[in-house]
Amino acid sequence: MAQLEVSDFAQAVIDRMGECKDARFKQVMTSLVKHAHAFMREVDLTPDEWMAGIQFLTETGKKCDEKRQEFILLSDTLGISMLIVALAQARGAKALAEQPGERPTEATVQGPFFWPGAPQKELGDDIGAGLGEPTLYHGRVTDTSGRPIAGCVVDVWSGDEGGLYDMQKGDEMSLRAQFRTDKDGNYRFWSIKPTYYPVPGDGPVGRMLDKMGRHLNRPGHMHMMLDAPGHEKLVTHIFVKDSPYLDSDAVFGVRNSLIVEFPKHAPGKAPDGRSMDKPFYTAKYDFRLVPSMR
Ligand code: BEZ
Ligand code: FE
Repeated sequence: MAQLEVSDFAQAVIDRMGECKDARFKQVMTSLVKHAHAFMREVDLTPDEWMAGIQFLTETGKKCDEKRQEFILLSDTLGISMLIVALAQARGAKALAEQPGERPTEATVQGPFFWPGAPQKELGDDIGAGLGEPTLYHGRVTDTSGRPIAGCVVDVWSGDEGGLYDMQKGDEMSLRAQFRTDKDGNYRFWSIKPTYYPVPGDGPVGRMLDKMGRHLNRPGHMHMMLDAPGHEKLVTHIFVKDSPYLDSDAVFGVRNSLIVEFPKHAPGKAPDGRSMDKPFYTAKYDFRLVPSMR
């Protein structure tokens, strides 16, 4: 029997997939095996290093529960989540290339702190819970031709004034809500000016980042998920322009088009007519959604 050598194992595995019925699965597995073997050969991985890798992945799995997804954090911090987002966006842009209209709003990572079923609020409501620095978020949702999208669900969530999300603190929802755009596609709500914060660092991914000589921080951002019938769902953030870490987001999620000025205003009347007895910020951002591709 011909014996397999270092350079042969990958092809031997691939050759065993002759009976595979799913062409896409076969394509993905072929490439995975090819690249995984090439990686091991390139670094000449030792048995101890391989076992350390297996232990790391085991611990990553054990750290996961309903509220903590350490594998997503691993994908995020290795830039893989953002690569997948960017690939999807490039695919969409290609499909749209023939059609007239503006470029759609860029997407970014969802992160682990989305909590479905946030309370439904009225436009203009304050979800800031009296925390942090009050900020009026407002703008318009249109399609790529500039037509307003009425009734678009705008799901928003952020950390508190110290950068902690409700899920990290307990079982009560806070600083998150769903709004619906009005007939002209407008949305507005009050929350806080988000601060930079560290991604969870008390698990294997935190240890990996430390060993890589990396910090854990994300620049301040408000998460937004927009969902309207007949349009692709958009998962994105708006980033605070003067926030630290815009240049070194721990999860590589920053897109230049999502960086927004948060001008500060003296106490007085806000643009939505609310009377403010302390300084406040405003953040204006217009979203453009892509027509459904399916
Ligand atoms: C977030 O922005 O909430 C987030 C994203 C990726 C990893 C951790 C947190
Ligand atoms: Fe976040």
